[in-house]
Amino acid sequence: MTREEKYRLIEQARPGELEKLRAQVGLSPWRQSYHIQAPTGLLNDPNGFAYYQGEYHLFYQWFPLGTEHGMKYWYHMKSSDLAAWEDLGIGITPGGPYDSHGAYSGSAIEKDGKLNLLYTGNTRDETWTRHPYQCLAIMDAGGRIAKLDRPVISSVPPGYTDHFRDPKVWKSGEAYYCVIGAQRTDLTGCAVLFRSKDLLDWTFMGEMKTGLSPFGYMWECPDYFELNGSGVLVFSPQGLEADEDLYNNIYQTGYVIGKPLDLATREFRHRAFQELDRGFDFYAAQTTLGPDGRRILVAWMGLPDVAYPTDTQGWSGCLTIPRQLTIRGGNKLIQQPVPELAKLRKTRSSAELTVTDEVVRLNGFDGTSYELICEISKFDAEQLGLEFRASDHEKTVLKYDRVLKKVILDRTLSGRAMDEVNGNVRRCGLVADNLKFHLFVDASSVEIFVNDGEEVFTGRIFPDPASKEIRLFCSGGSAEFRVCKWDI
Ligand code: FRU
Repeated sequence: MTREEKYRLIEQARPGELEKLRAQVGLSPWRQSYHIQAPTGLLNDPNGFAYYQGEYHLFYQWFPLGTEHGMKYWYHMKSSDLAAWEDLGIGITPGGPYDSHGAYSGSAIEKDGKLNLLYTGNTRDETWTRHPYQCLAIMDAGGRIAKLDRPVISSVPPGYTDHFRDPKVWKSGEAYYCVIGAQRTDLTGCAVLFRSKDLLDWTFMGEMKTGLSPFGYMWECPDYFELNGSGVLVFSPQGLEADEDLYNNIYQTGYVIGKPLDLATREFRHRAFQELDRGFDFYAAQTTLGPDGRRILVAWMGLPDVAYPTDTQGWSGCLTIPRQLTIRGGNKLIQQPVPELAKLRKTRSSAELTVTDEVVRLNGFDGTSYELICEISKFDAEQLGLEFRASDHEKTVLKYDRVLKKVILDRTLSGRAMDEVNGNVRRCGLVADNLKFHLFVDASSVEIFVNDGEEVFTGRIFPDPASKEIRLFCSGGSAEFRVCKWDI
């Protein structure tokens, strides 16, 4: 697409253009069955995730007219249980003076009975220079969303470039705070803080003082929250170099955890950066607080600057399932699928067997969209694990290498080849005598929670719909497997 084509509003589609896209999407073999995905075009970051008036609201970045990063809307979904989602269509339409080139990412908070949506208005001038504004849109109890005429933060403070976006808002005491992803003029990434009494008038506080400097060239989508007395900053730094099993994705998403942020001094003392996910496609995570105090996370199951096989089918991207967060051992975030997802379960199959130096197909277990729990114990095999979305020519392989003490996810033979830039094998160290692999498989993705969320691997895969088999295997010894699967 040309620049002009990318920055069109949906009304500016050529006659028949949307119908053609819809028809292409309708023919795609990789449409998801229970993950949030766009009707057409590109989905990227989750936005405005909030519990409001008895329901969860979740928006996402949406470019309707193609799978490139063009004119971004906020698309609106809601749910009473985090399992079934209702499609509410467009939430925020860009194209105003302060979001002429996209309503970029942001977050939501309730105030005076209304849901306030704080987002970055992306604009470009005649010389294509970017001018970001932080804008506010307000949703009333009837679901009507109105943008304010003027931005609430209209300039970038000195010392930062035009890469200044993605406000995440929270309340502490009587004041509102937001953290914004930024790039310093020396081209290093950081997060900055603002304070407000009313969400309208914001004061620049300065940079969040972390121990990470320099750490990449831009931090996108920062999210600060407190959990069990610790402070956590989740963010997506760009520009980290791969380091053995770490940072293998083109861009990372992870967190630092420590003592709560000191809002007076902006000091945030924390431990080392850790990746949230050990898989392939995971970015721009955003969290919210549930009514019961749970911290719930969703992320884009995709990455910027990576091509996906559905690009030629008129759509790209989906969100992860919602995951609840806890802290283990004071310094590690544990992600678990929210238990509400059990509502999606249909037919159940189960098996218990010992596997010795062989590959065993589980009869009656075939599927393309399911939840599966595989517990493995008493193993002396060198390698053990499962193959899924498998056929005679395709398979996705999840295994434990007992010699290397690593969990390995291999999508080399998963199906349609993926963009080389992001690779096809991921490994992660794990010392364990018992393994629990909890999988959520959909038409074109897999999310794997290892040992109750100790590690998580998220990835898109693009198999033939006929690749449905599930197999267990061991080499160099044996293992006992207990497997339970529910169709979704
Ligand atoms: C992250 C991101 C954000 C930006 C949005 C635009 O994927 O680049 O920084 O607000 O996407 O769609």
